[in-house]
Amino acid sequence: MHRLLTSALTVLATTALPACANAQFLEGTPKAAESSEPNIQSAVSEIQTDIQSRIDSTRAQAQELSSTVAPQDEPQNEAAPAPDTQAGAAPQPVPQPQANSVDCPNCVALTFDDGPSPYTNQLLDTFKAKDARASFMVLADHAYQYPQALQRMQAEGHTIGNHTKTHRQLNQLAYGDIAQEIDAGNAAIRNATGQNPQWLRPPYGATNETIDQVARDKGLSQALWNVDTLDWKIRDSQHVCNSAVQDANPGSIVLMHDIHPTTVNAAECIIDGLRAKGLEPVSLDELLRTPVDGKRYYSR
Ligand code: NI
Repeated sequence: MHRLLTSALTVLATTALPACANAQFLEGTPKAAESSEPNIQSAVSEIQTDIQSRIDSTRAQAQELSSTVAPQDEPQNEAAPAPDTQAGAAPQPVPQPQANSVDCPNCVALTFDDGPSPYTNQLLDTFKAKDARASFMVLADHAYQYPQALQRMQAEGHTIGNHTKTHRQLNQLAYGDIAQEIDAGNAAIRNATGQNPQWLRPPYGATNETIDQVARDKGLSQALWNVDTLDWKIRDSQHVCNSAVQDANPGSIVLMHDIHPTTVNAAECIIDGLRAKGLEPVSLDELLRTPVDGKRYYSR
């Protein structure tokens, strides 16, 4: 404010000088000297009046500026500490990184296909004893054969998925045939549990855009996998356990089959081994809480 007024007065003094010089010039000229004294005094008086009016005008402008510019500056200067004061009085929650918003960052999904089988109850016993969860991708005919196994899965917090009716390779079928396979699988699960599944596991993991579309239309998400234990091929419990535990990472989906006793007998070793690695076996519904219809999930 003070600096503003000073610079305004400096400008005024500079612009006023020619008027003074002009007056002195008039005063110094012979003609002016010959002119009457009152004329010179009158001219000087006019210049003085002009200077005074310019000083008044500049002062008024400076005051106007100080009342408009300064208040704009001051609130900005005062606004800065205000948030700090508010934050000190009532701290806001710190936004959490995306990774920390995952329900269980160290979870994995153990999935068992092609059942239920005569061995499934033993597998459910192991998961119950260990307080762990799994997912069962059932075939329609087996679901009709072992409805109580599905009811137990449902009651004990496991996820039940649709593995179709006849285990055909869906990517070789047209939309209508794919839909029939899926509808039959859903009906078998609904028969035992009263609910449609959320998950489709295409046999052999064979999928394509037509299957994506059918799954989307049926309200199913596709559960694929990123860990294959090859338990159907290598019928050795220790191998199955080693494969599942060593290859699993946070978010993994592990493929196994509960129609093989060697796999069922490996379950305790797998659960213990995963926990020793800091991983927790959960159901697919727990691993992926908001799956998108039609989408393919190989892991979280
Ligand atoms: Ni299968």
